[in-house]
Amino acid sequence: MDSYIDLKNITTEELKNADLDRIDVTGSPPDMEPHRQYYFMAKCRQIVKSESERLGRPLYACSVCFGCQMNARDSEKLLGVLRSAGFRESDSEDADFVIYNTCTVRDNANQRVFGRLGVLNGYKKKNPYMKVALCGCMMQEDLVIKKLRRSYSFVDLIFGTHNLYKFAELLYRCYTEKGMIVDIWEDTDKIVEDLPVDRKFPFKSGVNIMFGCNNFCSYCIVPYVRGRERSRAPEEILREIKELAADGVKEVMLLGQNVNSYGKEPAGTGFLSFPELLREVEKVEGIERIRFMTSHPKDLSDELIEVMGQSKKICRHLHLPLQSGSTRILEKMNRRYTKESYLVLAEKIRRAIPDISLTTDIIVGFPGETREDADDTIDVIRKVQFDNAFTFVYSKRTGTPAAAMEQVPDGEVRENFDRILACVQETARERVKRFEGQVLPVLVEEINEQDNSLVTGRLTNNTVVHFPGDASLIGEIVDVKLVRCEGFYYIGEMGKDGNG
Ligand code: 5AD
Ligand code: SF4
Repeated sequence: MDSYIDLKNITTEELKNADLDRIDVTGSPPDMEPHRQYYFMAKCRQIVKSESERLGRPLYACSVCFGCQMNARDSEKLLGVLRSAGFRESDSEDADFVIYNTCTVRDNANQRVFGRLGVLNGYKKKNPYMKVALCGCMMQEDLVIKKLRRSYSFVDLIFGTHNLYKFAELLYRCYTEKGMIVDIWEDTDKIVEDLPVDRKFPFKSGVNIMFGCNNFCSYCIVPYVRGRERSRAPEEILREIKELAADGVKEVMLLGQNVNSYGKEPAGTGFLSFPELLREVEKVEGIERIRFMTSHPKDLSDELIEVMGQSKKICRHLHLPLQSGSTRILEKMNRRYTKESYLVLAEKIRRAIPDISLTTDIIVGFPGETREDADDTIDVIRKVQFDNAFTFVYSKRTGTPAAAMEQVPDGEVRENFDRILACVQETARERVKRFEGQVLPVLVEEINEQDNSLVTGRLTNNTVVHFPGDASLIGEIVDVKLVRCEGFYYIGEMGKDGNG
């Protein structure tokens, strides 16, 4: 029989490829990370194994993700741990272990979680061995935890954004201790590398480059639930991207709340700036497309525009949240740019990279917003001509400065929202179709959900294209003729002349 692996004498690199069943778990857990988490994964494997022997079937885990790309990446990490612990993945929430990775950016995200928890309780009554876990941004709110303790006592495990790396350890506790386990940290400066990740797509991947946010836009809860801004070391990021490329990944999405301030925090580290980091990512062989999310307009440098303009790999897409087109409202939002400076910036980007697509986020109904303020937003939409704009009704978040400001009545918000949305749809429709008739490369992502004779992919500018094809194309970059634009997407045909 193979000898046991002693966690005291193994490098992180060896650990990542080790057979978890060979890890020696007879002693106490190591203090060092990520070794400690691998110890608990090995412990969990024993529990999962004996439980599934008892039940005569595998144990299933279901991971549900709410919210943004950051959460999607975190969910891949949760799934990586669950799979390493011996669970099989399931799409059904009627599973043995269900985990919700929550979002709290707007209140409706919270309401959805509470609504679905009721359904989980029903499943749990039928399956007494079922465990329910909650994590993510919403769990960083005191009021949420109070409500869960009071009215949702069937939840087994709750943790937040700062200690996600300890999931294996918490999972073990969940199976060995009684009662609800709640572990929420206020903040952290720790970044733990090299935990298992179960990617949703083999050919593309998110890569965290920084965590947290220091901007404190007055409506936003993110700085309170994701903590202070901290960047990951460039060597770690590049190492991860090289590993991803070796594993068949063609497209990476660099993730951060404000990627333009990458490298500034923690101060004094001598990290690269964001444009410098992009230049390094560009050199990684095998990576063909580079995306990033999200850029704050106040920090977008000329150097970034230059690097994007010169790059062969950085996608022709920039998501540049506007939030409002009214300088008066932008000031109350603490955004630190004006209507005019945003317009100048958009113009500068368009001049340097003419084929770029600009997308944005807009909030309607921020405290004090009038019809005239909304008109300013509409004016910016008409001038910039976004390819898409995500339009949100302002949601009051407890603890943010805007929550204490005088709120706008719902009726007025609705009217402005409808006017802004109509403008977005009209301008985007015109803008998106500018490539009609051209042949452009598309990275094929999946079989079309509605019609399985079609595949769905994206142009470098992020526009979706549907065209006839089969599963063998998934993960490939192919030339597609953009035959017809249907609003926000294209119908195409493969091949240079559109004949296959
Ligand atoms: N209400 C509505 N939308 C919000 N966003 C952030 N906070 C709020 C809020 N309180 C939007 C912003 C941001 C996007 C991710 O969510 O537009 O860019
Ligand atoms: Fe929220 Fe503003 Fe930070 Fe974005 S930049 S996460 S909107 S505080």
